[in-house]
Amino acid sequence: METLSRNFAGLDRQFAPLGVGTWAWGDSATWGMGSYDSSLTEATIAEAWQASLDAGIALFDTAEVYGKGESERIIGRLLAAEPARRSSVVLATKFMPSPWKLNVRGALRDALAASIDRLGVDCVDLYQIHGPISLRSHNALADALAAIVADGLASAVGVSNYSVKEMTSMHGALSARGLPLASNQVEYSMLRRRPETTGLLEACGRLGVVLLAYSPIGQGRLTGKYSATNPPQGRRSFSDHPMEQIATVITELRRIGEANGGRTPSQVALRWLIDKGAVPIPGAKNAAQATENAGALGWTLSGDDLAALDQVSLVGTRTLQGRVWQHG
Ligand SMILES: NC(=O)c1ccc[n+]([C@@H]2O[C@H](COP(=O)([O-])OP(=O)(O)OC[C@H]3O[C@@H](n4cnc5c(N)ncnc54)[C@H](OP(=O)(O)O)[C@@H]3O)[C@@H](O)[C@H]2O)c1
Repeated sequence: METLSRNFAGLDRQFAPLGVGTWAWGDSATWGMGSYDSSLTEATIAEAWQASLDAGIALFDTAEVYGKGESERIIGRLLAAEPARRSSVVLATKFMPSPWKLNVRGALRDALAASIDRLGVDCVDLYQIHGPISLRSHNALADALAAIVADGLASAVGVSNYSVKEMTSMHGALSARGLPLASNQVEYSMLRRRPETTGLLEACGRLGVVLLAYSPIGQGRLTGKYSATNPPQGRRSFSDHPMEQIATVITELRRIGEANGGRTPSQVALRWLIDKGAVPIPGAKNAAQATENAGALGWTLSGDDLAALDQVSLVGTRTLQGRVWQHG
């Protein structure tokens, strides 16, 4: 039984400190930008959804750009099959603030209306700015977010890929409008520790912002199923260390997993993030992956285990998070 719970400021609901990322759901509809194989079907996705819910996971993260809206449509169909489920699910989606969207207030509202339509709901629980790429000021973005909250279209608002400076500025802009900043979604894993080295994790704690950790198992690289001779396929540009460098991390994940009652590398890698104070949102393509990932809940790592994992982790220098941001 997991003892920790988290909440998004503005949303009156607690949830387990682990979610599900749904970028890969509907990814086959994305040309050029997709990074995952297209072999997953809606049946296996439905099984992943069900297994996650059965394991006590409520938070699902999507975006208007995932599968060009297909990820949201799939979630919409899953919810439509079981409408009573809506109140126990925490739905997070994102607005892509492309530089040409200069009327950001209108663009954000239109994008959210389209997301709500695809999801088949009245409002979303968390609406996030996908990356710090808008040409408009934080005040303009905060105005746009405040308007959709005032109209009941989103309960909580967040950002993604924001640096400490950007996040603090947005936090101030929202505060001036009486709104909390609920979350900042960034790349964070044992292969990418920039949220620690830049002070972002600490700043999130201080400001009451939930740090949502994306690519938390290194796009599959920390599961133990890939190796130098069997690297992940497809365009997986996050956490893109050579597998040779990751072997020592996996060996330590296995050792600590075995010492903690037979946990798998994925479960240990996810628990490391939860015990650091983050909420990881691993992708899951089927029931087996979803169930395994949910096994990160209900136990904790000791201080010695955390220190040993810190020791072998890779800080990550190839992605300049918050500055050069790749789509995802
Ligand atoms: N805001 C942003 O800019 C941004 C950027 C990236 C991601 N995200 C979010 O973060 C979520 C997760 O990130 P991610 O998909 O990049 O990386 P990830 O969660 O680290 O890796 C997910 C992939 O790992 C494999 N996997 C997952 N669980 C497994 C298990 N238990 N055993 C074996 N393999 C397993 C699956 O791919 P295979 O089976 O094919 O290996 C799965 O698609 C996304 O879905 C999205 O919601 C946001």
